[in-house]
Amino acid sequence: MTVDLVLSNAKAFVNKETMDCSLAINRGKIFKIGKEPSMPKADRRLDVKGLLVLPGMIDAHVHLRDEGKAYKEDFYSGTAAAAAGGITTVLDMPNNNPVTMSAETLRNRMSIAKSKILVNVGFYSEFPTNIQDIRGIVEEGAVAFKLFMTEQVGGLDIDDDNALSEAFKIAKKLGALVAVHAEDKVSLKSAEDRLKHANRNDIGAFLEAHSEDVEMKAVKRLLSIVKQSGPHIHFCHVSTGKGLKAIIEEKKTGMQVTCETTPHHLLLSSEEFKRVGTLALTMPPVREKPQINALWSGIEKGWIDTIGSDHAPHTLVEKKSEIVWNVKVGIPGLETTLPLLLTEVKRGRLSIADVVRLMSEKPAEIFKLKGRGGLIEGNNADITVVDLRSRGKIDSSKFHSKAKYSPFDGRPVEGRPVKTFVGGQLVMDEGEAVAQGGSGDIIRRE
Ligand code: DOR
Ligand code: ZN
Ligand code: ZN
Repeated sequence: MTVDLVLSNAKAFVNKETMDCSLAINRGKIFKIGKEPSMPKADRRLDVKGLLVLPGMIDAHVHLRDEGKAYKEDFYSGTAAAAAGGITTVLDMPNNNPVTMSAETLRNRMSIAKSKILVNVGFYSEFPTNIQDIRGIVEEGAVAFKLFMTEQVGGLDIDDDNALSEAFKIAKKLGALVAVHAEDKVSLKSAEDRLKHANRNDIGAFLEAHSEDVEMKAVKRLLSIVKQSGPHIHFCHVSTGKGLKAIIEEKKTGMQVTCETTPHHLLLSSEEFKRVGTLALTMPPVREKPQINALWSGIEKGWIDTIGSDHAPHTLVEKKSEIVWNVKVGIPGLETTLPLLLTEVKRGRLSIADVVRLMSEKPAEIFKLKGRGGLIEGNNADITVVDLRSRGKIDSSKFHSKAKYSPFDGRPVEGRPVKTFVGGQLVMDEGEAVAQGGSGDIIRRE
């Protein structure tokens, strides 16, 4: 038989270790992994010259925008950024215009995305107003539910523990995961009001409002609701030692709880605001050394399950204001995440196995993305090829994202993705998008 493609001369991460091998790819799947002489005939052969070949990176925390927010990012620009960043699958957040919170909004989003995407995309939904509509959203293929606890985004009343519990019970029954942005709205708003009244409009005021306790309060509240109602809960962008500790305590009891942190929470501190000002503002904010150390320790000990970019693009105009409360919070991360993590590999703080676990295996497992998350025969041929020796600097002017800014701008990096394959097709080569929109798959939860 003749397969579509053989990647030869690979150092591939297979079965938890790196091995010298070749990979045969056929009809979008990994057909065979083995030594070169055992490879079948192929229509095309590509010598990757000893580069490291990893399972495609999966970013479970991305705001692709489009629709009413297409001026910030659209499905093409966002997935081109993913491809450039070595990411083969992204999960799209629901705080869109319109908010993804019904079978219909989800269906529309999928149909708009289909012809524009370069990488695979799965979709979160917010909870609907009527919890009877949860089932329809799951049947439409939402990968998971997302709950913002900072402000009312979806239909479900976030101030009402009973409403949350009832919705969670249905999610549990349907086997749907609930991902949360855990910052407590009530404490956050009261701090904001107090600060605004005192005419505090500076970055320090924002940090004061988004305190560690604001995170911990929401984490604890959700954990106690989940204890009674039972779905798998996944905490997005954990940013504090206290929040993480509360999660670890429940993990130890065997509760189905997982968590994510981000490259910015691991690698930036509030010192950064002096350099780049409001460009570095995100929610939850980057913090001080003790918090950063707690997160790194969570990574080392395996308590933190995934790293997500929380790619949250805005325009430069939206990112700047004298009044901190008017600044749009969020930073683009699809094109910086993997280079930054590979740089940490070089520095010895992470291993390649850690990167693969945090950004491919675990996201695939947690979000039940079948056939992804590992270089295994029969899996989808989603593959990220990286050059660990390549040195450069983060340069946001070269981003494929519409959001051409980064608090990491100018930071030296060592190691970068050089080729991205999605379903066996080369979509990014040496930083350039080389495929058409529509190359990625819409991922529906089965
Ligand atoms: O910084 C953030 N930006 N945090 C969020 O929760 C939302 C996000 C966005 O959509 O811009
Ligand atoms: Zn968030
Ligand atoms: Zn987010």
